[in-house]
Amino acid sequence: MIDQAIVLAAGEGTRMKSQTPKVLHSIAGRTLLGHVLNSLDSLNPKSIRVVVGSGREEVESHLAQIAPDAIAVFQAERNGTGHAVQIAIDGVKSNGLALILAGDTPMLSASTLQEFVAAHRAGKFTASVMTAEHPDPSGYGRIIRGDDGLLLKIVEERDATDDQKLIFEVNSGVYLFDFAALSNAISKLKRDNAQGELYLTDAIQIIRENGGKVAAILCEDFTETLGVNDRIQLAEAAAILRDRVAERHMRNGVTILDPGSTWIDDTVAIAPDVTILPGCAILGSTAIASGAVIGPRTTLQDCAVNSGAVVRESNCTGSEIGANANVGPFTFLRAGTVLANDSKAGAFVEIKNSQVGTGSKVPHLSYVGDAEIGVDSNIGAATVFVNYDGINKHRTVVGDAVRIGSDTMLVAPVVIGDGAYTAAGSVITDDVPAGAMAVGRAKQRNILGWVRLKRSGTGSDIAATKATENTTTETEQK
Ligand code: UD1
Ligand code: CA
Repeated sequence: MIDQAIVLAAGEGTRMKSQTPKVLHSIAGRTLLGHVLNSLDSLNPKSIRVVVGSGREEVESHLAQIAPDAIAVFQAERNGTGHAVQIAIDGVKSNGLALILAGDTPMLSASTLQEFVAAHRAGKFTASVMTAEHPDPSGYGRIIRGDDGLLLKIVEERDATDDQKLIFEVNSGVYLFDFAALSNAISKLKRDNAQGELYLTDAIQIIRENGGKVAAILCEDFTETLGVNDRIQLAEAAAILRDRVAERHMRNGVTILDPGSTWIDDTVAIAPDVTILPGCAILGSTAIASGAVIGPRTTLQDCAVNSGAVVRESNCTGSEIGANANVGPFTFLRAGTVLANDSKAGAFVEIKNSQVGTGSKVPHLSYVGDAEIGVDSNIGAATVFVNYDGINKHRTVVGDAVRIGSDTMLVAPVVIGDGAYTAAGSVITDDVPAGAMAVGRAKQRNILGWVRLKRSGTGSDIAATKATENTTTETEQK
């Protein structure tokens, strides 16, 4: 659809007050730059050039990850948006269309960009500027239209007269140019402005003077054109994207009871008829299948949740949760957890790098690490898979239909055979054959009268004495 896309992202981002380059701050699961490149995607540009400067190495390595085909162009000194474009197009030949946008404008939707391109083409303009009616236009370049409605020029805030400052229509920083006209105009930019910089916006007047036709094309939703310059605007942008993502899912048949407290990354996939209760964060590459119920107050990062699963008040990362599985409340699933269909991970259970087989349950207060549990097994309350000897991690294998007694320590590496039992409170250090009962604990002995001897006069002694008297009386009565 377009030939060249140029993303300006060299700025210092001073107002962020951050060690991280501005365009690498993240909202809704992508960096600011990631959002811009994502919305560009649908336009299929032949080439994408990203002008980098401040935090160059970090921005370049991020770019290599998210858009390996994009070309990073280094702007050593920040001499303005015009200068940035000058460097970006240096040596580039094209007779097509160039789209220019800023790396700090994350809310532009693909459809708005498509409409912009369509309007530009339909009007056969030499250049077009996307504009917005901004309720607070301060800081933005103001749009000066001619009597014919076409764009005369853009006046920066610092160079604007008091009258011009009253104009609410502003330059969004998104432009389309006939490449040859852009190239010619850029070579003629001058630094005769309040900031002594080369302004890309001055290219508009130059193109007009050369007989070009320049349009100001209004974007109906000004929030799409908002730039992020500080952390307050970052939070505003995050909230706008949160609402937009939630609306998309709700239109698609997902129940989100409290969209205001539900943070779903733009990168998440949710099927119709999923229910999301208040206070959830659903992040990264998470995918949720139909009929699942998530929340309240649940975090899912890079998880796959299958149909009909229920995940309540839990924190899960890098895990797969099987169909109709039951998780929570207060469950911590770490990377590499795979819960098969109809399985359960209950209250105060932590699981990492382990498979829990179909129908198997870890209902209460357990730690399961580096384990493989077969089908239909039950792990008793407060069982610990002792996977770490202080130096290395070892695996535990639990077979099918196993009954691990409450408070068992399974000291890995260890294998529990199919159908085997362990006695409650056992420390299991040796493999248990199929069908065996493993008892790994000292036999109980009762030291009679110990409290009378060692704790005489305490509440325990008084209670014990009373209990003994009662028993004696009862015995006497018989
Ligand atoms: C610019 C526009 C203004 C518009 C606003 C929209 C100009 C002169 N002004 O102002 O009309 O309303 O954007 O947000 O263009 N950048 C570089 N190299 C530079 C300078 C800037 O890469 O030397 C990048 C920045 O990183 C940023 C973008 O260009 O992503 C815009 O620059 P910025 O300094 O933020 O321009 P504004 O003052 O916001
Ligand atoms: Ca800006």
